[in-house]
Amino acid sequence: MRWVITADPRATNIPNLPRPTAPRRAHCPIMVRLRPTPRTTPQDHGVSHMLNIGFIGLGGMGLYQCDAFNDTRGLKVFAGADLAAASRKKFAAQYPTARVHQDHHDLLADTDVDAVVVATPSAFHKPQVIDVMRSGRPVMTEKPMALKVTDCHRMLDVAAKTKQKLMVAHCRRYDPDWGAMAKVVADGTLGRPILWRHMMATVFRVAPWFLDKKIGGGPMIDGAVHNHDFANLMFGKPEAVQAGSIKLSKSSAVDTATAIVHYPRGNQMMLSWSWGAHGSNAFDVLGPRAGLTNGTGQLTPPKSDGDRYGYWCVTDDNRRQRLIKYRRDGKSMYHRQAEHFRDWINGKVKRCNTPGTTAIQAVAVAEAIFKSAEKGTTQKVKW
Ligand SMILES: NC(=O)c1ccc[n+]([C@@H]2O[C@H](COP(=O)([O-])OP(=O)(O)OC[C@H]3O[C@@H](n4cnc5c(N)ncnc54)[C@H](O)[C@@H]3O)[C@@H](O)[C@H]2O)c1
Repeated sequence: MRWVITADPRATNIPNLPRPTAPRRAHCPIMVRLRPTPRTTPQDHGVSHMLNIGFIGLGGMGLYQCDAFNDTRGLKVFAGADLAAASRKKFAAQYPTARVHQDHHDLLADTDVDAVVVATPSAFHKPQVIDVMRSGRPVMTEKPMALKVTDCHRMLDVAAKTKQKLMVAHCRRYDPDWGAMAKVVADGTLGRPILWRHMMATVFRVAPWFLDKKIGGGPMIDGAVHNHDFANLMFGKPEAVQAGSIKLSKSSAVDTATAIVHYPRGNQMMLSWSWGAHGSNAFDVLGPRAGLTNGTGQLTPPKSDGDRYGYWCVTDDNRRQRLIKYRRDGKSMYHRQAEHFRDWINGKVKRCNTPGTTAIQAVAVAEAIFKSAEKGTTQKVKW
């Protein structure tokens, strides 16, 4: 087993994920829009129109998304809204020409904003995404889509009524590294059925809301929602969950839980996540023919590969190892995700890779984990 992956994709040491940098410039004061102008849509302008993007939530992830959008052709970091003065100040320093608001309603009143990214604490995704769609704009929200399946349904209802595009930032679906893993699973190299295991443990020392039950929900619906969503991609519709939890911190959210999620054809995912104690991280994918680990195992790739490739290592039942490599092109999953949002808005791609209609299933897995841990019984995954 190889110890590789951490909670937050931004914190992984996958070398093709440099933090996009933007020039730091002087702080500019909060701007208030005085002159309403007729709203234009990307469709009015065809595919080459520069999309003015508004960002709600300018904390760690909001700024990270800004950087990825800023680096992407056809997208402009146009406006930002955040309740906290410190977050607004940082954003304004980084994007001096952008319009800055405290209240997201003011950002939505700006008719020059074409589309919106929501990156606030998870409990606010539902009301803010609904506000965006009701303002007549497409929206990409950070994961998890919401904290409850019923909230996701409400968001989907509004998307249908307003005919607006609702994308969820399940960035792993845009990650060439996890994409290479999915390919190996799909091509039968490991045999079938598959058990995907991911165990991680750390003391989570960022904003306390992440471990507030009502605002962030803890690791099983925050960090691990990436796994829930990606397992749904690899294995199909999640069926049932057996889970247990243990309390290792004083947080109101479940800080530590272990779950087995069942999928069609006998596939399983085993997750054991803790934001309550420092421990080990482990990540592997097992089948009857072979196991898969991230990285190069005990093999050394040819020097001629340089740093152009990422690797997974297949170990068969005779302990023979071989490398599966995939080409890196320097684009991070966040850049690919931004491009996809742009292309979906512009009609260049017809189907979104991460629409709300599939993201709801990842929330359903988390909900089943919480119920199973609480009741001590197997829970069907329902949405
Ligand atoms: N996809 C990923 O890799 C990834 C990584 C980390 C976080 N996230 C997600 O991004 C979201 C934000 O996380 P973060 O790490 O940026 O948190 P953060 O605490 O760093 O930032 C949140 C920001 O939202 C602002 N805010 C809070 N309530 C608001 C409101 N009602 N209106 C406007 N602004 C408000 C806060 O002032 C803060 O600036 C969460 O849903 C989290 O799960 C995703």
